[in-house]
Amino acid sequence: MKGLLIVFEGPDGSGKTTVLEKVYKKLLQDGYDIYKFREPGGTEISEKIREIILDNENIKMSSRCEALLYAASRAQLVEEKLRPLLEKGSIILCDRFVMSSMLYQGIGRGLGIDEVKNINDFAIGEIRADLTLFLNIDYKTAIDRKRRNFVSDRLENEDDSFHKKTYDGYIDLSKKFKDEIISIDANKDVETVVNDCLDVIKTYLKEKKWNF
Ligand code: TYD
Repeated sequence: MKGLLIVFEGPDGSGKTTVLEKVYKKLLQDGYDIYKFREPGGTEISEKIREIILDNENIKMSSRCEALLYAASRAQLVEEKLRPLLEKGSIILCDRFVMSSMLYQGIGRGLGIDEVKNINDFAIGEIRADLTLFLNIDYKTAIDRKRRNFVSDRLENEDDSFHKKTYDGYIDLSKKFKDEIISIDANKDVETVVNDCLDVIKTYLKEKKWNF
């Protein structure tokens, strides 16, 4: 693929959506051919699937159904948007990707990382994140912040032990795949976190001799 897929990951309330938006605006101003998407979502069909997944009324949803719906939303996003843009050579910023499923459904729901990876391989083929920025903040600080400021969705309303499991998973994976997953201290103020992300992205682009 000619393009670049940069994924923002982190616990609920880590600030990744705000940070991604600011990073996107800065890179756009700098002249990069850049797009942003969120997961689950990013296409009309995927946004409909998002509503089903996050609806607090869907308390009966089984973990396997949940994992398949995330993968289905992702399959549509990849086919409709990500693959064509990557083929054209664009830079894409994505708010969550396969790693979220591996951690939330694989570990949090206990379905197993490999099982969840397998259904995602089927869903998206060979598309992989080139670079992942992990906004690292203690899960408890993050989820409390989120619950204070917003109406929580079905996943955010899961108990603290669920969020602890996914956070521990983030820490393990970021240690195991140090070159692909860059940990960013998200306890700092927003502008500092944005600048730290931009530094990492620009260093990566320089290494890859990226031109725009
Ligand atoms: P997100 O959009 O990041 O939440 P918000 O915009 O409210 O900050 O993600 C929605 C929820 O879905 C979040 O709790 C994480 C969860 N999630 C999974 O469990 N698996 C996945 O594959 C993805 C993409 C998200």
